[in-house]
Amino acid sequence: MINLIKSTFYKEQQTKKEICDFITKSSILSMSLECKKFENNFSKKQNRRFGTMVNSGSSANLLLIQSLLNLGRINRGDMIAVSALTWPTNVMPLIQLGLKPILVDCEIETLNVSLNNFKKTFQKHSKLVAFLITNALGHCDNIKEISDYCKDNNIILLEDNCESLGSKTNSKLLGNFGLASTFSFFVGHHLSTIEGGMICTDDEDLKNSLVMSRAHGWDRHLNKKAQKDLRTLHDVNDFYSKYTFYDLSYNIRPNEINGFLGNLQLKYLDEIVDKRFNNFLEIHRSIDRNDDLIKLNFEHMDIVSSFAIPIIAKSKHLQNMYINKFVDSNVEVRPMIAGNMSLQPFFKKYVSLDFKLENTNFLHENSFYIGNNPELTECDLKVIKSVIDK
Ligand SMILES: Cc1ncc(COP(=O)(O)O)c(C=O)c1O
Repeated sequence: MINLIKSTFYKEQQTKKEICDFITKSSILSMSLECKKFENNFSKKQNRRFGTMVNSGSSANLLLIQSLLNLGRINRGDMIAVSALTWPTNVMPLIQLGLKPILVDCEIETLNVSLNNFKKTFQKHSKLVAFLITNALGHCDNIKEISDYCKDNNIILLEDNCESLGSKTNSKLLGNFGLASTFSFFVGHHLSTIEGGMICTDDEDLKNSLVMSRAHGWDRHLNKKAQKDLRTLHDVNDFYSKYTFYDLSYNIRPNEINGFLGNLQLKYLDEIVDKRFNNFLEIHRSIDRNDDLIKLNFEHMDIVSSFAIPIIAKSKHLQNMYINKFVDSNVEVRPMIAGNMSLQPFFKKYVSLDFKLENTNFLHENSFYIGNNPELTECDLKVIKSVIDK
């Protein structure tokens, strides 16, 4: 069986031995130096000033939105645009925190929102204050133009990069086009800490707010200057500062095992991304030759780093046929992410607006994905290509 996920970690056995050794020798396993080190290493690799580690990509999205509310950069009731083709826990925090999600249609050949689609949404909903774009399955559309357009129109651009760690366009890593970006380190994603997530930003005030709201709303993990400023502002002395809580928060901390794993796996990230990109290119050559399928447009991308490869059929009948072919060849298949988000039961329950999502709906109906991981063997690739080749 060619499963979506082959193992928990890249270099599984070696990594498992190293975690056992780490746990045996460690006196602290709650969030401490390994997490801090991973935040520094990861943000450096991503070319961002700050990284805040949390316990999942979903928590990263929730915390980012909470912190923007706490800072007053967005307010309850505001309209926030989101990609219609995304993961539910990208959209759910908006609903949970009293914001109004506005779904933006994607392009079929890039799976992602283009400037053209975003402009159409903005023309209809001119009160948009932020856009939480998803870089879906390692791809993007013209995100540089979207970023420029957002700047010109005072729209805060945030990237959910949970599916695209390592992808590059315009010589820049995805995750670096807006105010902040979120990442997931769940098993099967590009880099696994079992569960885990990160928020990257260059904005120090945002970083401080993220650090506080990640754990209880206290100031323990701020630097000395930020602590002093807060304590002075609120007239808090050293004794009471231990249990003073400044804003709405969660406890979504990672632990030292996650941090340690992050540092270990980060050493392999370039190798992992290379392998995933090569797998994608090889499989896409078969897609390209098959006129039952729509080929992806990724000419504008320097690197496509994905954990799954989309198969977009030209009709429902063809989608069924290829799903069956893959299943018969023991290749695991899944729907195209959450498909058309407006059709998901939770969305219909809480959002009453109607959205025109022709392309996302086309993908919902006619596409699916198969896994892409760095452990795919020559033999696995041969099986996958033989299913696609007519
Ligand atoms: C776009 C996107 N955002 C957020 C998440 C949530 O990440 P996690 O599973 O780490 O909570 C995912 C998960 O796959 C995702 O695809």
